[in-house]
Amino acid sequence: MSARRLLLVAGARPNFMKVAPIAAALRKRDDLEAVLVHTGQHYDRAMSELFFEQLGIEEPPYRLGVGSGSHAAQTAEIMSRFEPVLDEVRPAAVVVVGDVNSTIAAALVAVKEGTPVAHVEAGLRSFDRTMPEEINRVLTDAISTWLFVTEPSGVENLRREGVAPERVHLVGNVMIDTLLRFRERAAALDVPGTMGLVPAGYAVLTMHRPSNVDDPATLADRLAPVLELADEMPVVFPVHPRTRAMLSGAGIGSGGPLRLCDPMGYLEFLGLMSSARLVLTDSGGIQEETTVLGVPCVTLRDNTERPITVTQGTNRLAGTRPDRIRSAISEALAAPSTGRVPDLWDGRAAERIVDVLRRAIDG
Ligand code: UD1
Repeated sequence: MSARRLLLVAGARPNFMKVAPIAAALRKRDDLEAVLVHTGQHYDRAMSELFFEQLGIEEPPYRLGVGSGSHAAQTAEIMSRFEPVLDEVRPAAVVVVGDVNSTIAAALVAVKEGTPVAHVEAGLRSFDRTMPEEINRVLTDAISTWLFVTEPSGVENLRREGVAPERVHLVGNVMIDTLLRFRERAAALDVPGTMGLVPAGYAVLTMHRPSNVDDPATLADRLAPVLELADEMPVVFPVHPRTRAMLSGAGIGSGGPLRLCDPMGYLEFLGLMSSARLVLTDSGGIQEETTVLGVPCVTLRDNTERPITVTQGTNRLAGTRPDRIRSAISEALAAPSTGRVPDLWDGRAAERIVDVLRRAIDG
């Protein structure tokens, strides 16, 4: 029998480290074949190609080149460009990861054409429907056949939403598969050394959530306590393109207390995070990565869809008020880091996913 095809969709930076281990697990088998689609939601070299090169992801045969746009325009563009690919490839299933616009757009096209969808990183809920990602998560889960979950809260959320238990598979975390695989390679680059930083002597900041960065006054407010931290230790701030556009309005420029730089490659950023004294972020994935690295993390948000990083990991949910951010930073610096790695975050999540799909597609 010829190999059954799985159409694997990636589009934005946080997707690439999630598809890499799934594509690698599929490459090892001769009964399933991965066909990769890059929607082009992210397109700058540092947000896209660099990840393919560093993570050894093969050149995708399909590139949709959608680029940026409003939510409606971007989602619609992905949908209309993805449909002919689906018709041509005729896969046994479409695999989508995470919670970006590419995730829901591809899932919606597939399910309406009668192709079952597997959602990797299902069940996470911030319960904040002002976040575009929360809408993408809820909708993608509702229409997916297989829901692959990273942490027990996801299983519980899906149960509460009435999802049949046989659709839900707690398999661990594919992003951590990638982290564990590339950790040593990242360390070998000695990124802190090349930047003149002392291990455990600096902090790292990332910020790109629209609710934090799209209004310059809000951004300035969030950054005030971080500027105070920068009096104590260097704070390295790789700036997302969305944030870059707002920085001058918030009174932040190069030559100031923060060490601004362009977005980094996967390996460089992993190396930078691994030796940091503290990471400040509004990203979802970084809360999980710091948990595994054992590096204290302060999350600059009011909620998290990844509560295990707080209950077991190194994460502190600081909220968005400057006084609360300030005290979360002090607490994180004072307390010893006592995180523990969640169950199944062991580097084998992608293999579990592929096993489930193989059995389901056969059966
Ligand atoms: C998207 C995801 C978000 C994820 C983030 C990670 C959605 C709804 N949001 O947000 O969940 O955390 O990616 O990075 O899918 N831009 C560039 N170059 C690029 C990509 C974007 O300059 O390669 C600029 C454009 O001005 C664009 C803006 O960044 O308008 C925002 O990009 P977009 O893909 O709309 O959302 P992100 O903020 O990146």
